[in-house]
Amino acid sequence: MKIIRDIKSLQDAKRELRGSIGFVPTMGALHAGHLSLMTKAKSQNDHLIVSIFVNPTQFLEGEDLESYPRKEEADSKICQLAGVDILFMPTSESMYERDELRIGAPAIKGYILDGEKRPGHFDGMLQVVMKLLNLSGANRAYFGKKDAQQLALVTQMARNYFLPCEIIPCEIVRDERGLALSSRNAYLTEEQKSRALFLSKSLKRATKKVMAGEVECDVIISEMRAVLEGVERVDYIAIVNRNFERLERVELGNTIILVAAWVGDTRLIDNLWI
Ligand code: PAJ
Repeated sequence: MKIIRDIKSLQDAKRELRGSIGFVPTMGALHAGHLSLMTKAKSQNDHLIVSIFVNPTQFLEGEDLESYPRKEEADSKICQLAGVDILFMPTSESMYERDELRIGAPAIKGYILDGEKRPGHFDGMLQVVMKLLNLSGANRAYFGKKDAQQLALVTQMARNYFLPCEIIPCEIVRDERGLALSSRNAYLTEEQKSRALFLSKSLKRATKKVMAGEVECDVIISEMRAVLEGVERVDYIAIVNRNFERLERVELGNTIILVAAWVGDTRLIDNLWI
């Protein structure tokens, strides 16, 4: 595995690769969720490139940019074991110049839910993903359904800008109790982890209601809200279609149920695709 930190070396190393490239962009503190993306990318391509970059432009003022977990050594080992060909870990200086051209999230889908709670987050995310997709030269890039709105926006960017890269959605990986894996789970105490389970429990309650024939979104949302009594603050509960338009009634095969909530000082998100 080559560990590369500068853009020129990445371009040189890429020139040696023959065949298809799968790419997994991450911010590091790798866990089994990231690993599942790498495994899928590895199985579908001749080469695998992974990036680790805690992208400053997608963090808002006052968010956890400074404290975001950084575990370069452990992460490198995981990538090595996963059969990564190139691990790209650039510096902020090499990725950005002062007066940057901007890529903006779409006015509606980019500014609802997480885009409303974290205004500007998706602009910064798309900006870095555009750079990383171009740098990697990937034929396929892998994104988790865990960040459903991110996945939808990246897919739209690839479509709107005619990027020669297929965006591949990957299933959410959870721990044995149902908690969706996230690098930010590292902030949680054991007691908070138990409370964090209310997110996935609320989604399980939603599944049960749908299985029992309930299709009214208002009813499902109020059931979920009752389950979420156990967390400090709920940012949103929403039911949308795959295009992130609000639904009044569940459409099987075209629905995402999303929740964002705070446990202590940690903001968590989870969702369910039905
Ligand atoms: P990060 O949070 O490190 O996540 C990297 C990728 O792993 C994303 O596609 C995310 O959806 C996926 N992922 C995270 N947890 C997962 C889980 N439990 N199951 C399945 N996939 C999971 O998302 C980002 O970084 C950044 O915004 C990035 C796209 C790298 C741009 O900076």
